[in-house]
Amino acid sequence: MVKASTSRTTRLDRLDRTFSGAIAPNSGAVGSLLTQYSIQLGDALLRHRTELAERATRVEAEIASRVKSEFIANISHELRTPLNAILGFSNLLRDADTVQLKPDQITEYAHLIVESAEGLLSTVNDVITISKLQSRKMEVHLDDVHVDEVLKSCAAWGTSRAKHMRQRFISQIDDALPAIRADQGYLGDSVTRVMANAFRFNHEEGAVVLTAKRGPYNKVMICISDTGIGMTEDEVQIALSEFGQIDNRLDRQHEGTGLGLPIARALTELQGGEFIVHSEKGEGTDIIMLFGDAAMETAHVV
Ligand SMILES: Nc1ncnc2c1ncn2[C@@H]1O[C@H](COP(=O)(O)OP(=O)(O)O)[C@@H](O)[C@H]1O
Ligand SMILES: [Mg+2]
Repeated sequence: MVKASTSRTTRLDRLDRTFSGAIAPNSGAVGSLLTQYSIQLGDALLRHRTELAERATRVEAEIASRVKSEFIANISHELRTPLNAILGFSNLLRDADTVQLKPDQITEYAHLIVESAEGLLSTVNDVITISKLQSRKMEVHLDDVHVDEVLKSCAAWGTSRAKHMRQRFISQIDDALPAIRADQGYLGDSVTRVMANAFRFNHEEGAVVLTAKRGPYNKVMICISDTGIGMTEDEVQIALSEFGQIDNRLDRQHEGTGLGLPIARALTELQGGEFIVHSEKGEGTDIIMLFGDAAMETAHVV
């Protein structure tokens, strides 16, 4: 027992001496050894950190280049498909006399041309919008907005979309919602983009629900829920990134540019709102947008 205590004291003394040598490097051989050791350790740490930084830059560049190639592949598809349709049907209409088209065929082809041109315009507009959002050049006009009015037109769109997709659509918009501080155009646009996804990534006979009610802290809560394919947490992060799409195989079922969700989130945040995604793979997705009551926001500013 005594021996052990003596040896512990000796070890403490030794460590103490070594330590004081390290603090005052010129005070002896042990001190200078420690100084050398700490210099070497410092160099090794610096090298390790540089290596890590280089590796991170390499990985980032690889991801950026993969996203870029996927984006180029997608965008070419999104531009070429409608352009080919426009060209094909316009050629048919031009030669209407020789190919002897019936009047209802002419109307149908004209409709397809308009539809393709609208799709093309919306793809080009999305690319312009995201580049403006990225360079912080997107203007916002905040006003006192009546949520129910904006959401009623979103709901009308939802009803016709549900019929087209053979799904169910339910809208539950509280009548007594306070006005919120928002940009009317951006609000409707964000909600419609999220609703479009809710129908698109859903099953036949699935359901989409649009809810608007008072949330916590007197905020107005707009929620779009679906019973669709859902996403894992990692997939949500991809979906929220620009051009990010989850299924990038060549036989991908759904088309699009991967800009809808990041634009909806950026527009919501530009208006001072919050954009929250809850999703469960195979179960469905809830997207919640939270906005402050206009009266309270104004009181805050004053
Ligand atoms: N409600 C949803 N349910 C399941 N997956 C979704 C949902 N919304 C978005 N996603 C996934 O996120 C991706 C990105 O969505 P988005 O930015 O709107 O681009 P796009 O619709 O053009 O593919 C989609 O391709 C899809 O994989
Ligand atoms: Mg989309």
